[in-house]
Amino acid sequence: MPRLAVGNWKMNTDRDGAIALAAYLASGIKSKHLGDAIVGIAPPFCFLECVGQAIAGTAIELIAQDVHAEPKGAFTSAVSASMLASLQVKRVIVGHSERRKVFGDDDAKVAGKLRAVLGAGMDVILCVGEQLSEREAGQHQAVVEGQIKAALDGLSAEELARVVVAYEPVWAIGTGVTASPAQAGEMHEYIAKNLVPAGTPILYGGSVKPKNAQELAETPGIDGFLVGGASLKAESFLPIIDSCAANVSDSRS
Ligand code: PGA
Repeated sequence: MPRLAVGNWKMNTDRDGAIALAAYLASGIKSKHLGDAIVGIAPPFCFLECVGQAIAGTAIELIAQDVHAEPKGAFTSAVSASMLASLQVKRVIVGHSERRKVFGDDDAKVAGKLRAVLGAGMDVILCVGEQLSEREAGQHQAVVEGQIKAALDGLSAEELARVVVAYEPVWAIGTGVTASPAQAGEMHEYIAKNLVPAGTPILYGGSVKPKNAQELAETPGIDGFLVGGASLKAESFLPIIDSCAANVSDSRS
């Protein structure tokens, strides 16, 4: 099972800062023993090309934060999967909770985007997660189950093999409140046992910081991280990469 540490820069950085951060990360991981861990960064669309150049030939994967489901046409401001693929993007995030909440990406839209990404030959990071009110009502597993089934139903085994799931409880994103290892571990186990094929990496996201990464990375079923705020500084992202690479989750192998 590969482990992944992915930095989602969201709508942050400027051009020079994005290039500098990417180059610094690339040199920072050069001397690290990553094992089978994969490191990826997801800059804003407009910096994909320059960041891609900064990390070309390194172990860092270029990742996109979103995509439009349609292949082309009158969709002002949108970016298609083939456009991303042409920039050597390896993987695309779909269903991030900010997309679901701020931009109205519902399950059907997420499913369409996911298929567009796979169709263009890239891999997918599918984000799922419940609101705080849903967890308090005891519906968190049902919510995540609904999101995953809506996105993955009907995919072939070959397509499913190119999907990584990121469990990101909405109440933990950007709040400084992290799911406890027990909460995250329980959900990861539920997803692994019931909702995805064996061997599907399941990442955790939501206020991952250097101080909590080690404990989470040691939690059975957590195969890596999708990191927002802490991925914007090499001083915080590099230790998270270390935690991810150092802990091999063999609970499901
Ligand atoms: P955060 O964001 O690490 O800043 O909480 C995580 C995410 O949105 O993927």
